[in-house]
Amino acid sequence: MNPVLAELHDKARAVLDPVHHDFFAGGAGDEVVLAENEAAFRRLALLPRVLRGREIGEDFPVMISPTAFHKLAHPDGELATARALSGTTLVSSTASTVPIADVVAAATGPVWFQLYVQPDMAVTEALVRRAEQAGCRALVVTADSPVFGRHRRDLAHGFHDLPPGLAAENMRDLVEPGLRNIAMSPTVSWEHIDRLREMTALPLWVKGILHPQDAELAVGHGVAGVVVSNHGGRQLDLVPASLDALPAVVDAVAGRVPVALDGGVRSGGDIALALALGASAVGIGRPVLWGLAADGDQGVRRVLDVLRDEFLHVLTLCGGELSRDMVVKRC
Ligand code: FNR
Repeated sequence: MNPVLAELHDKARAVLDPVHHDFFAGGAGDEVVLAENEAAFRRLALLPRVLRGREIGEDFPVMISPTAFHKLAHPDGELATARALSGTTLVSSTASTVPIADVVAAATGPVWFQLYVQPDMAVTEALVRRAEQAGCRALVVTADSPVFGRHRRDLAHGFHDLPPGLAAENMRDLVEPGLRNIAMSPTVSWEHIDRLREMTALPLWVKGILHPQDAELAVGHGVAGVVVSNHGGRQLDLVPASLDALPAVVDAVAGRVPVALDGGVRSGGDIALALALGASAVGIGRPVLWGLAADGDQGVRRVLDVLRDEFLHVLTLCGGELSRDMVVKRC
């Protein structure tokens, strides 16, 4: 790992309450998918193209994936994350410990709102209005969570609720406070996507797509984009690594909408591999939390800076363009 990321990772582990560290680091079940997300990148190699004679742009197609409860990592919570963007998009979680309006006000880049559709559509609509009024530029509906994932580390620690003083602030005055006040329900369906599209003019993305037929359905239901994701290995511990699921989804979508990916991205090389396999952008989850826990907004900035620098270097070494024919399996 890049030494800056390794330093932030180690510092985060040292400063975090071990229970909160395990909440951030852990996955579901045996944590097979958690490990696979990173391992999948190591199984692939890039065949660079040479002598293309191109100038390399500064595009950095990275966003910050939605993660819950940033105040467990740093007292400034999501405000610190938002301050560190310098142009990068933050997908801010429903389960934010800072209200979405304050996140957007502090942000130095675009903010999108990650939505857990609530079975009570009046609550869902209230969340959508909060996101709109805050100035969010898109909604990202998380589709892979019909029920909470079973995180053995949290169960072993008895971690069920936020410490006193912290709350899922976007839910304030909508439901009773508490960690589990965000409902997850298997009754959420494509019909809810249709209703959301009627409810708001914001572009609607769906996150947590792995099956190509769901990608096809998403396009059919008029989404603005899909995110190939297994929730960082925190939901079903039987699924493929996000990277391994990406090509079939890219083929099914066939360029009709952008396809982003998150899960296991830890370097500029990983970003390049995902883009070469057809991702339009890549989301970063845990490394942002390492930076936040280690050093607040400065730490998050360092994570983004390192990834940007590495990615542009790899892109230059690859001749400035990435395509699927450049990806081969390691023997
Ligand atoms: C998440 N993730 C997540 N996703 C989401 O849609 N809403 C959420 O509130 C959360 N919360 C959350 C908390 C924590 C601690 C983690 C680690 C993850 C999933 C997240 O958006 C993303 O899919 C993964 O984190 C990406 O994998 P990496 O980069 O962490 O490997």
